[in-house]
Amino acid sequence: MGLEELFESLTEEQQIFQFGVETDNPLAHAFPRKRVVHAGLNGTVVAPDESQAIWQEIMSKPPQEKGTQTAYIHIPFCKTKCLYCGFFQNGTDQAVEDQYIDALIKELEAAAVAPRLKDSLIHAVFIGGGTPTSLSPRNMARLLQAIQRCLPLANDYELTLEGRIHDVVPENMEVWFANGVNRVSLGVQSFHTEIRRNVGRLDDQETVLKHLENLCSYNQSANVIDLIYGLPGQDLDIWKEDLDLLMASGVDGCDLYQLNVFDGSDLNKAIQAGRLPAAATTEYQSAMFSFGKNYLAQHGYKRLNICHWSCTNRERSLYNTLARSAAPMFPFGSGAGGHVDGYSTMLHRIIQPYEAYVQMGKKPFMALMKQSPLEPIVEEVQAQFEMGAVNLQTIIAFDARLKDLQWVFDLWQKRGLLAFNGIQYELTEAGQFWQVNLTQSTLECIQFIMTGQNAIAVEKVAAQDSAKADAMVQAMKKMKEMYSGHGVEVMKKMAEMSGGHPSARKRGAMSGKKGAEAMKQMGNPMGDMADPMKKMAEAMNRMSPEELQAVMKRMMGDD
Ligand SMILES: C[S@@+](CC[C@H](N)C(=O)[O-])C[C@H]1O[C@@H](n2cnc3c(N)ncnc32)[C@H](O)[C@@H]1O
Ligand code: SF4
Repeated sequence: MGLEELFESLTEEQQIFQFGVETDNPLAHAFPRKRVVHAGLNGTVVAPDESQAIWQEIMSKPPQEKGTQTAYIHIPFCKTKCLYCGFFQNGTDQAVEDQYIDALIKELEAAAVAPRLKDSLIHAVFIGGGTPTSLSPRNMARLLQAIQRCLPLANDYELTLEGRIHDVVPENMEVWFANGVNRVSLGVQSFHTEIRRNVGRLDDQETVLKHLENLCSYNQSANVIDLIYGLPGQDLDIWKEDLDLLMASGVDGCDLYQLNVFDGSDLNKAIQAGRLPAAATTEYQSAMFSFGKNYLAQHGYKRLNICHWSCTNRERSLYNTLARSAAPMFPFGSGAGGHVDGYSTMLHRIIQPYEAYVQMGKKPFMALMKQSPLEPIVEEVQAQFEMGAVNLQTIIAFDARLKDLQWVFDLWQKRGLLAFNGIQYELTEAGQFWQVNLTQSTLECIQFIMTGQNAIAVEKVAAQDSAKADAMVQAMKKMKEMYSGHGVEVMKKMAEMSGGHPSARKRGAMSGKKGAEAMKQMGNPMGDMADPMKKMAEAMNRMSPEELQAVMKRMMGDD
C-alpha cells in the first residue's frame, strides 16, 4: 500500500491529525494543533542487565574516524520552579550539589580513559539543565576543570553554559570565563516584568538588562537568550517590545520558542483556576511567530535554523545544530540524554540511584535503547526540516521506496506548507510554524513505507486551545438560554454554516460571512440576534476543525 492509499484508509479525523487540512490560512489552521514537542521515532529498550556490557563494548573501541561529536552535561537543580517548565527536577541545596558534582566528575573521569572517547574529538559541549549557572563558584570551577581535563576538546570547541539571568553576577562570571566557557545561553522568556513574574521568573526588566550588559562587557563569549511567545498576558504589542529589547540588549543571538502548555502543568492549573490570564491560542501564537520572524529579518538577523537567529558572527549555535543531526552525543549527569553508535539513552533522573551507579563504576542508565534501524534516515530528515528545507533526493538515497514521500510533500505544497524550488522543498512561513508536525508526519510516513506500520504520536502540548473551546461552549450556552424559544437547532445550523464540522469545511462549507448571508435567506428566524450570531459564526470560522469538533460534541451532548 502506498501513502495515498494509507491516507484514503484513515478516518477523517486521523487524516486531519496526521496530514492536516486544506485551508485558506495554513499559518493558523493547517493542523488542529501541535502534536509533539520534538519529532522522533521510538527505539527498542535494551534489557537492563545487558546495558552495561553493551556500553563497555562501545566505549572500549576507538572511533572509526575523527568525526564531529558533542557532549551533554546535565545539572538538575533550579532555585525555583517556573510554572510552564517540564524540565524542573530538584530545588537547590548546597550539600546535595557538592555531592552531585563529586559524582559527575567521577562519571567524566571514567569516560576519559575509554578509547571511544579519548581517541576522538568533542566539538561542542552543552552544560544544560535545570539551571547550571546556579552552581556555586567552587563547584562550577571543579566541573569546568574536569571537562577540560576529561573531554578531548577540538581546538574550535564550543562550550555552552545554560542558565538564568539571576546568576549572571561577577563572582560567577569570573569562574566561567577563567575555565573555558565561550557561550552563555540564558532564559529570559520575556523582558516584561509582570509577565516574567507571573510565570515564576525572579528578576525585573531593569535587572535583566543590566545583567545582560555586564555579561556582554566581559567580551569572552557568544551570548544568546531564549524568548517565549504566547505567555499569559503577552500580546503582540508586548511581543514587539520583547524583540526590541532583545535587539537593544547587545546579545549575539536568540531562540524564539512557542509556549507549550502541557495539560497537567502548573501553568495550565493556574490559568484554569483564574490566577493567570489565558495563554495565547495556537492561532495567536502563529501570528506572533510570523511577526517575530519577519521583524528580526527586517533588522538583519540571520536565521540559523527554524527557531534560532544570530546577529553576530560570534554565534554559531554549533551544539544545537549537531544535536539534531547524527553526530554522537555523550551524556553525563542525572537526567542527561544522549546517543552514541546506534544506541540512545537517558541517565537516571533521580539523584540517589544516579550517584549509586557512578560509585559502583557503572554508567547510570535509566534506560538504554537500541535505536530504530531507520534512525540514520530519521536524523537526516530531522536535520533538514530544522534547517527549513527538505531534499527528497537525499532521502531517496537511503532507500528507493522513499520516493513515495513525494505524494505527501506535493500535498503539503498544495496546502501552502512547502514550496518546491527545483531542487528541494522549502518550508513556507506556515510550514515553519508547523515544522514539528510536518517532521513527525514525515517520519511516520517513512516508518509506514519501510515497515508497513502506521503509528500516530500524540502529546498534549497545547492545552490553551481547549480553553478556547470552553469559552465558545459557554458563549453558545448563553445564547441558547437567551433565545431558548428557537432551540438548539439554530445553533447546530449556525455551526454548519460556519463550516463547523471538519468534513463540512473540507467540502467547502460556508464561511461565517456566508453563514450570515444564508441566515438572511432563511428569513432570519432570530430577528435581532443576527449580529451576535454573525460574530459567533465568524469566531467559529476562525477555530481549527478539532476545536470546532470539541465544541460541537459538547453542545450536542448537552441536548
Ligand atoms: C531547559 S530550560 C533551561 C533554562 C534555564 N534554566 C532558565 O530558566 O532560563 C531551556 C529553555 O526551554 C524553554 N522552555 C521551557 N519550558 C517551555 C515550554 N513549556 N514551552 C516553551 N519553551 C519552554 C525556555 O525558553 C527555557 O529557557
Ligand atoms: S525554566 Fe529553567 S529555572 Fe525555570 S524550572 Fe525550567 S529549568 Fe528551572
